[in-house]
Amino acid sequence: MIIENQQMVTTAVLEELKRAPNARFREIMGALVQHLHAFAREVKLTEEEFQTACAYVNAIGQKTTSTHNEAVLMAGSLGLSSLICLLNNGNKGQTETAANMLGPFWRKNSPRVNNGGSIVHSPTPGPALFVNARVIDSAKKPITDAEVDVWQSSTEGLYDNQDPRLKAMNLRGKFTTDKDGRFGFRSILPAGYPIPIDGPVGELLAAQGRHNMRPAHLHFLIFKPGFKTLISQVYVNGAPYLDSDVQFGVTRALVGDYVRHEGNPPAPDVKGEWYSLDYSFGMEKGEAKLPRAPIE
Ligand SMILES: [Fe+2]
Repeated sequence: MIIENQQMVTTAVLEELKRAPNARFREIMGALVQHLHAFAREVKLTEEEFQTACAYVNAIGQKTTSTHNEAVLMAGSLGLSSLICLLNNGNKGQTETAANMLGPFWRKNSPRVNNGGSIVHSPTPGPALFVNARVIDSAKKPITDAEVDVWQSSTEGLYDNQDPRLKAMNLRGKFTTDKDGRFGFRSILPAGYPIPIDGPVGELLAAQGRHNMRPAHLHFLIFKPGFKTLISQVYVNGAPYLDSDVQFGVTRALVGDYVRHEGNPPAPDVKGEWYSLDYSFGMEKGEAKLPRAPIE
């Protein structure tokens, strides 16, 4: 098609898209082109702004390495990750869900830990935390033999792959639910942490005058054939930044009741304050698939 005016560009691109044999590809790309072109018309994007935008997209890729995923951080900072999660869980966005974003720090091959064991694999300061969790189906029946990955930041707010002082795979563990659908472990209270701001995401936040903090949370990934893989985060009630998470991840269902105790600890080596968390994860029927690991 020879293009005669600005409207015709959109028509020409959509015409070419009709050649694509994959129907879902046609649907997604067709909508993308229409929205992208409409967006440029709406804001009357200038040539300079367009050049800046292209450089920005390139910078997201250039910033990404095997241990850092700038695209995931960007999607989170724009609320897109949270939206995609809520659209695809809780009966496709109709009901409350324990599902949450994967985040950029899940690693495959977490060390296997027995139920009740510790995920603190090398000395790491912080108040002791004892987690008792249950995995249930939509009829509230226990899900047995589910594989559960747990990962979290230290009390200083760093993951094992970010802090060279931490032993690899520290504060990570893989559990199997028992006959009552339960799993439990000992750890330390996680802390909130800043997301990296030395790349395009940092520029975005600075331009908006936003902080770059996430509230304290534990990460979970629960896998059981016959059920949709449940990716979750359980946030610490009362933690700073709970209502202004830079990644827009906090939903009501995911604010956990982390209870502070003093005395009568469940282990003799615990001195002073300690915390407990009881939480139930509801899984939906569906396909058990593992996500692509954001880092190696
Ligand atoms: Fe996290």
